[in-house]
Amino acid sequence: MRFGYFDDKNREYVITTPKTPYPWINYLGSENFFALVSHRAGGYCFYRDARLRRLMRYRYNNVPTDVGGRYFYINDGGDVWNPSYAPTKAALDAFECRHGLGYTRITGERKGVRASLLMFVPMGHTAEVHELKIKNTSSAPKSLKVFSFIEWCLWNAYDDMTNYQRNFSTGEVEIERGGSTIYHKTEYRERRDHYAFYNVNAPVAGFDTDRETFFGLYNDWSAPDVALKGASAKSVASGWAPIASHGLDVELAPGEEKTFVFTLGYVEVAREEKWEKPGVINKKPAHALIEKFSSPEQVDAAMKQLGGHWSKLLSNYAVESTDEKLNRTVNIWNPYQCMVTFNMSRSASYFETGIGRGMGFRDSNQDLLGFVHLVPERARERIIDIASTQFPDGSAYHQYQPLTKRGNNDVGSGFNDDPLWLIFGVAAYIRETGDYKILDEQVSFDNDPKTKASLFEHLKRSFNYTLNNLGPHGLPLIGRADWNDCLNLNCFSETPDESFQTTGNRTGRTAESVFIAGMFVGVAPDYAYLAEKLGFADEAKKARAESAKMSGTILQHGWDGEWFLRAYDFFGNKVGSKENKESQIFIEPQGFCIMAGVGVEGGQAKKALDSVKERLDTKYGIVLNNPPYSEYHVELGEISSYPQGYKENAGIFCHNNPWVIIAETVIGRGDRAFEYWKKIAPAYLEEQSEVHRLEPYVYAQMIAGKDAVRHGEAKNSWLTGTAAWNFVAISQYLLGVRPDFDGLRVHPCLGGEVGKFTVTRKCRGAEYRIHVTNSGKGGSPKLTVDGKPVAGDLVPYARPGATVIVDCEV
Ligand code: BGC
Ligand code: NOJ
Repeated sequence: MRFGYFDDKNREYVITTPKTPYPWINYLGSENFFALVSHRAGGYCFYRDARLRRLMRYRYNNVPTDVGGRYFYINDGGDVWNPSYAPTKAALDAFECRHGLGYTRITGERKGVRASLLMFVPMGHTAEVHELKIKNTSSAPKSLKVFSFIEWCLWNAYDDMTNYQRNFSTGEVEIERGGSTIYHKTEYRERRDHYAFYNVNAPVAGFDTDRETFFGLYNDWSAPDVALKGASAKSVASGWAPIASHGLDVELAPGEEKTFVFTLGYVEVAREEKWEKPGVINKKPAHALIEKFSSPEQVDAAMKQLGGHWSKLLSNYAVESTDEKLNRTVNIWNPYQCMVTFNMSRSASYFETGIGRGMGFRDSNQDLLGFVHLVPERARERIIDIASTQFPDGSAYHQYQPLTKRGNNDVGSGFNDDPLWLIFGVAAYIRETGDYKILDEQVSFDNDPKTKASLFEHLKRSFNYTLNNLGPHGLPLIGRADWNDCLNLNCFSETPDESFQTTGNRTGRTAESVFIAGMFVGVAPDYAYLAEKLGFADEAKKARAESAKMSGTILQHGWDGEWFLRAYDFFGNKVGSKENKESQIFIEPQGFCIMAGVGVEGGQAKKALDSVKERLDTKYGIVLNNPPYSEYHVELGEISSYPQGYKENAGIFCHNNPWVIIAETVIGRGDRAFEYWKKIAPAYLEEQSEVHRLEPYVYAQMIAGKDAVRHGEAKNSWLTGTAAWNFVAISQYLLGVRPDFDGLRVHPCLGGEVGKFTVTRKCRGAEYRIHVTNSGKGGSPKLTVDGKPVAGDLVPYARPGATVIVDCEV
């Protein structure tokens, strides 16, 4: 069942009912100011850090779900309703929510009034703009009382939801221009140099800033006193819960429409300039921001700018094919999700509260893979930030804090795959840009300026960290966990409330990871290439030799007969072997070893992928392991804590499905790769939204596996490495256009379902138009570049400004 439709021309998903199976959200902002907005106008905004600079209060995990947002109450002769349906839930004659790239427009109509609310963050500004258009669609005049509403969060979101003994006494506001501008200045009197405001570009009949007055202490969101009475109370908050509400009298002749522009902004003020006079905040910066968005024309211009920005970004990779679901995924929604994950890391979504996790070392490197073609300069900055948190021995903090950019001691290090992801990230950046100079950048270890070394030296330590930490079989030690955060082979957690990952950590040097081994072999050629490029021929030679050796070790000790083993545990027992009672096979080493080319020649790769098909594939995607663990194993950790079929215990991790998809292309089975991809690509799941439940325009981290009670149900949409990896799989391996160090590789492999298609790729300043005639047979492509045949699958990079025509037959 569908709850809306794709409008590809406008790059929008159009939700046609407020009753979707879960709140379907969008993100606004992509620089410093961000907002989450659901199809019912729920959500919140923040400046840079979702925990420390949150402007709006939002109630996670509440009843009903999705409470807190930008709400407009319309009182039409005593009939009170919201164009966003929530919170009154008064029935609407028409409803539509258009989620677009960086904006959302919600329209509701009831009894002859249509109200349309556009929300976006204008580029270069720290504000959410709300443009409200109200139209009288009836044949009689209308006299409406309209009330805006937002609730302020007292900045630190964690403190805000826990520290009431203080916070009920700190709230402060100021009111200006009769209530058209409402300022939130809690804690500004002491250490904060920032405040927020909510402005409307029109005179108001009244205002409110005290929540209790607005609602009435015992009323719920659907029945605020002020909206029911149809008159603002002009309340001035003092402590408790400050809000901002404007009261507007709107007179409309039949057919008439009026437009109001609201600005919800954040400003910082230099310490010496904080006050206009004692107790009165300096409003100059707010006025300047308000000025910029005080007319519909300014709103239109800012929206145009936003649209142009996205058109430019998305033109870096575009496909035209007969499969519209493929087109919209590659051209619009997948890169959009990659941008959002790059901006947010794993901080704020409807599944992450914005107060928990910092930036992951592994996560951030992976996010780069799907982002680097959009804004390479920002990827470069991110690489330096990440590398600066690495330890001198090559190991890495698992997470770092976005505001301070320092490693997070609570989580610490010891996730032994982390260091190798840096090589992945840097190689992807250089492939895209050709910027080898980044390798000479001087970068600190653990943010200590005394320890600066070149970025290449960081890569070297990453690479050697694996070699310095091999176990009894010559495979890499796993540490606290590898990519699978929940496979904790050294932690032995027996106490509730402690973290599965950061507890214990017996320093045994037995638990080994075949996944990391595959990763090592996978990054070695890139590392060797870069070493050679810098003139370190010996290092390159050594890397190639170690990689060949590791391949051999995998085949000797990491091969289980029909698939790759997952690991050896603390006691040296096999994990992910036919000898085990449960979890005999895991997805991760099959994907990563084969992507690295291990076992391709000897036939193991094909065997392993056939085993994946037989044991792990389901109607909704490939599960992580099978059979799931049915009881807790202290020696395996969190993985066995989940009920069967959920999360890392046999859930469908949309994050590692693309590894198998890419692996299938490595052995040339494009049809199977494409079939797997379609099972998890959101646009193809639109028809089964009642099962999947989450947004049909973005990937979710996990879909419940075949052993779960709710097989097919997704969780954790938006912020997941799934976005980047699926973009890599579809754009670089299935459609097969992949930047390499010395040219663009063109090697499509996606079976025969999609016949002819064209990819337009901008890379290093040139544009490549690649026309593919795809027979589906696979094998080596036949290429001509500007009419001349070339051998192999490499199109050499052209000079900036050039347009290159490539014909490809495969
Ligand atoms: C979750 C994992 C997640 C990890 C992140 C665990 O508690 O179950 O899914 O990847 O935390 O660190
Ligand atoms: C989510 C984490 O963010 C990611 O780094 C990890 O690899 C997966 N969970 C699997 O555990």
